[in-house]
Amino acid sequence: MRKQIVAGNWKMNNDLAQTQALISDLKKQNQTSDAEVMIAPAFTNLWSAFESLRQQPIEVVAQNMHFASNGAYTGEVCAAMLKSIGVSTVILGHSERRAYFNETDELLAKKVDAALANDMRVIFCFGEELADRKSGNQEQVVKSQIKNALFHLEASAFKQIILAYEPVWAIGTGETASPEQAQDMHAFIRKTLSDKCSSAVADGVSILYGGSVKPDNAKEIFSKPDVDGGLIGGASLKAEDFFAIVNAF
Ligand code: 13P
Repeated sequence: MRKQIVAGNWKMNNDLAQTQALISDLKKQNQTSDAEVMIAPAFTNLWSAFESLRQQPIEVVAQNMHFASNGAYTGEVCAAMLKSIGVSTVILGHSERRAYFNETDELLAKKVDAALANDMRVIFCFGEELADRKSGNQEQVVKSQIKNALFHLEASAFKQIILAYEPVWAIGTGETASPEQAQDMHAFIRKTLSDKCSSAVADGVSILYGGSVKPDNAKEIFSKPDVDGGLIGGASLKAEDFFAIVNAF
């Protein structure tokens, strides 16, 4: 059985005190589902978050990292730095990084390689823009994003990969993909992976949906057979809402 996962992407929100306050609220929540729970605070708060959650079943993950192992890359953070503070999962390929920081598929392939070389797990994000969906090209776009960044990997590497389908038009807009649209795309992604590797590999990879997931729509989205969880933005900033989503399974 593949894992059900709910991950909160805090993006560029919460300073140290706010991070500690939100974590303290998260610790008061009651988890009734079996989902793996993750949060991704800003770099500056990762260590404090990790320390505060040592005894808790909430994993602290990073929102990004550089592909190089060290060196003259002012302002960047590498895999070894993350590993040294207990962070061993990283989100890569978020549409905001692609759009505002010009991250290309080629660059992301290098970041994925660096994460895997450091024995980290990757939450790899991708998804079409509104214009792609309107022109019916969403599958083609998603397939090329996955192919360009991940298809050089050996089949065994997919054990370390979590996929996150995040249609750009649904991020932070309040507009979600319908559960059927999510299911159709997730089934397409799984088929793409099955054609590339094998059905055993494809069946083992968790595929998360992201884009305006809220307590009131999570249950229906998560009920779809190929939706294995969610990558949550806005709603992950409130402990009660986040855990309502975690418990929607
Ligand atoms: P929202 O849940 O705020 O739409 O953000 C989704 C997202 O980008 C998670 O990575």
